[in-house]
Amino acid sequence: MSEKFYITTPIYYVNARPHLGHAYTTIVCDTIARRQRMLGKDTFLLTGTDEHGVNVERAAQAAGRDPNDYVDEIAAAFKAMADGVGATYDKFIRTTSAEHKRGVQALFRVLRDNGFIYKGAYTGQYCVHDNLYVDSAGPGAPCPTCGRPTETISEENYFFKLSAFEDQLLKYYQEHADFIRPETRRNEVMSFVRGGLRDLSISRSTFKWGIPVPDDPGHVIYVWLDALSNYITAIGYGSDKKEEQQQFEKYWPAELHMIGKEIVRFHCVYWPAFLLAANLPLPKTIMAHGWILFEQDKMSKSRGNIVRAETIIDVLGVDALRYFLLREIVFGHDGSFSFDALVGRFNSDLANDYGNLASRTLSMIQRYFRGEVPYPSATVARTAADNAIQEEAARTIEECQRLFDDYQFSRALECAWGVIGAVNKYIVENEPWAVAERQEEESRSRLGTILYTAAEALRIVTALVHPVIPESSSRIWKQLGLGDINKFRLDQLKWGQLELGTKLGKVEPVFPRVDKTAIEKMHALEQQGRAPVVSIESKKPPSTAEARPPVELAMGQNGVSKAGQPAKPAAASAPAAAPSAGPAAAVPEGKISIDDFLKVEMRVGQVKAAEKVKGADRLLRLEVDIGTEVRQLVAGIAEAYTPEQLIGRKVVIVANLAPRKLKGLESNGMIVAASVEGGKPVLTGFLEDVPVGAKLK
Ligand code: MSP
Repeated sequence: MSEKFYITTPIYYVNARPHLGHAYTTIVCDTIARRQRMLGKDTFLLTGTDEHGVNVERAAQAAGRDPNDYVDEIAAAFKAMADGVGATYDKFIRTTSAEHKRGVQALFRVLRDNGFIYKGAYTGQYCVHDNLYVDSAGPGAPCPTCGRPTETISEENYFFKLSAFEDQLLKYYQEHADFIRPETRRNEVMSFVRGGLRDLSISRSTFKWGIPVPDDPGHVIYVWLDALSNYITAIGYGSDKKEEQQQFEKYWPAELHMIGKEIVRFHCVYWPAFLLAANLPLPKTIMAHGWILFEQDKMSKSRGNIVRAETIIDVLGVDALRYFLLREIVFGHDGSFSFDALVGRFNSDLANDYGNLASRTLSMIQRYFRGEVPYPSATVARTAADNAIQEEAARTIEECQRLFDDYQFSRALECAWGVIGAVNKYIVENEPWAVAERQEEESRSRLGTILYTAAEALRIVTALVHPVIPESSSRIWKQLGLGDINKFRLDQLKWGQLELGTKLGKVEPVFPRVDKTAIEKMHALEQQGRAPVVSIESKKPPSTAEARPPVELAMGQNGVSKAGQPAKPAAASAPAAAPSAGPAAAVPEGKISIDDFLKVEMRVGQVKAAEKVKGADRLLRLEVDIGTEVRQLVAGIAEAYTPEQLIGRKVVIVANLAPRKLKGLESNGMIVAASVEGGKPVLTGFLEDVPVGAKLK
């Protein structure tokens, strides 16, 4: 019986369409799953969608849709995303499926029968966006994770005795250093639990879109208990079918739950407590990764800064996307996405380095050896350069595998590319094309040695990087005449396995270089593809102390921008990765380039508080919610608007101006208004409803 490996992605909320952030987690998990399969493990990759909760119910209502149709449509989009990025998932779970509902209800019953559920009254704050109970906060308090106002709820609920697990959890974390990774997240979780755990409300009675509590259908089960259970219901927990029960026995506990850093608490505190209460084993590792940022901000629909995976796949192919994300982002940390960097990596690493190594090596074998792999000569002495390549390739097998095992994808790829670089250099220095021209007897043997060395190194790198770039590596493997790469066992990889006389397949270029028009195409596709989904989703945010943007009372820059006078970009705070709109054209006198314009970050904000500034007739102090935080601004609009007129109003603010002080108050941004000659400033507004945090461009 082979060893098993059960790996899960988070299940994605269906109140927004999939974007690169979601694709990232799925690609990381797929890379791991493919690699585990190549190591001979019986691997199960699970992904799916999280479809219940009041926010989904409200999103469907806002769209005038039946929630069932609504979730079907968006779940299909997530499935298409998983297929599009080449994910080899073994199951796509939907929390609205009958099997999942049955499993969740079974778990609820077990928790109740084991004495961990009781009924009580809950009055407190709830964040609808994060499905988070916010204890010890007053009415209207912002959610500690996303900063949006919480709603006061007062209900009779079922409670889970989370407080009973404080010591047990801490002991478990202490004894299992690998349970929460990376270390920073582990420390955060431990200090959170040390701070004390309160019992958790696990049912809601004021809406219907959820799984009914067994024997009390007026309540639906808390969406996080529902969602987390997917990891067991998907593989058969709660099923009455024998083979499904066996599947559960076989795969549970999971080897790895991969999650984004904002949902650590749910996975590392609530989930293990539920499992302990149900006498089920805990997953081996919960690994939290960082975020993909676009223009310095978390990519999310509400921030209006999403890029879709399809756009990149359409223009550069799926492997370009997979390679870029794993190579560019240091796993566990946040990383920026930009089209420029993507195309840069594509051309340098994939087209120039890997693609070029494959095409020059294979086409020389075609040309000089009729398409059959030559063998290193036994008669002509090997050079130090030949040996160095062999040694480096052998070392790389070890090192690369170690780095992949440790989820250090970027370094693992760097290590593989080290060999690619060395072999390209070896080819240039050993000039096989010149050796082929020589007439001496020994030249042919020498040529055989050089091309064998290059081809064998190419084979080794191709096997190592296959889990990351499955499509192109499969093609190169076939061109090497080796058949189906998925049948190859990575744990047996070593130098010298490429056999003499192997007949190459058809040799074709795998990564043709692209030019700047690729960037234009991707921008154009993004513009076309931003079909709006009615959603109450807005800015999603960090839940951990480190990642959380401070909810500060920031103040805006004083002032009012003048219509017709573009605000001067604040270079120091301008986003570094503003996408380029294509080849740089000369900018005529008196004009600015699109890149300059994109440095100005204008966002929709909502005024939460407003008051006159003492001793300044023209100034108002405002607190404006801009999606990611509540900002303090000081604006010179007191002669035109009273504080009461402004509260609740949506405004446009320039969000990335350097702060300045006005009447001793710090102003963090500028309100955009039309300035009428001799008249009062008039604030900008929208005819349609726009979400707070949306970017103007
Ligand atoms: N439904 C919950 C998870 C329940 S799991 C039992 C949820 N869904 S989500 O759709 O909001 O986010 C799911 C995951 O998508 C995140 O944990 C993260 O893995 C990924 N990402 C979404 N946006 C992201 C970025 N901008 N960057 C990287 N990954 C992010 O939370």
